[in-house]
Amino acid sequence: MRIILLGAPGAGKGTQAQFITEKFGIPQISTGDMLRAAVKAGTPLGLQAKDIMAAGKLVSDDLIIALVKERIAESDCANGFLFDGFPRTIPQAQALLDADIAIDHVLEIAVDDEEIVKRLSGRRVHEGSGRVYHMIYNPPKAEGVDDVTGEPLVQRSDDTEETVRNRLAVYHEQTEPLVGFYRELAERSPETAPKYNKVLGIGSMDEIREKVFSALG
Ligand code: AP5
Repeated sequence: MRIILLGAPGAGKGTQAQFITEKFGIPQISTGDMLRAAVKAGTPLGLQAKDIMAAGKLVSDDLIIALVKERIAESDCANGFLFDGFPRTIPQAQALLDADIAIDHVLEIAVDDEEIVKRLSGRRVHEGSGRVYHMIYNPPKAEGVDDVTGEPLVQRSDDTEETVRNRLAVYHEQTEPLVGFYRELAERSPETAPKYNKVLGIGSMDEIREKVFSALG
């Protein structure tokens, strides 16, 4: 099973990714999590990505494509994977096609911008695992700490309202065109193109999970 999760920042991709990876036994490949780990470790990639991410802009296609190709060559991806936050531009999607990396499903989670601004201000994350919480909608069992490890939760530095609005603008300009890209692909090559589904990401996380599972058939 090879799946792409598409959606604006804060649409709930990471939240639903946790359910999908568990159900299908595939790894989550979050380019955002990989970049944040590189920033934290101070690697050359992290040094290049740090300021770009802090401003809510996109890291260069070449860097991201190389990072993803290296990751999917690892043994845990043999039976499939879930892309969360990749591809994010037409050149990234085209690179997958050019490399003959077949995808089964593209699933869009749609949420409007004002709801997203509200959601991201309350988000807290466990850095080690990428587990995601919300102070009101999905609080941890004990305040401020991860349910599994008991380690402290943090607020992402790009979750301020100003940066969130920049990220939304970048999403509409550079990532939303992928909706048309994959729809056209499905019309042109219905046999080989990924199946395209759109799920409204408003409601409880469990309700959305059921819609996601039924779209993935
Ligand atoms: P990335 O980490 O990918 O961030 P993003 O796409 O902006 O998405 P988020 O992780 O912010 O949101 P999400 O949809 O996963 O929502 P979540 O489930 O957490 O990218 C960060 C940066 O890295 C980019 O800006 C860019 O610089 C760089 N980058 C990454 N990939 C790149 C690429 N391919 N190319 C170039 N640059 C790249 O949910 C959000 C909150 O809402 C949580 O608190 C959650 O608990 C809550 N929530 C979830 N579902 C619900 C619900 N149904 N109701 C109420 N609350 C909910």
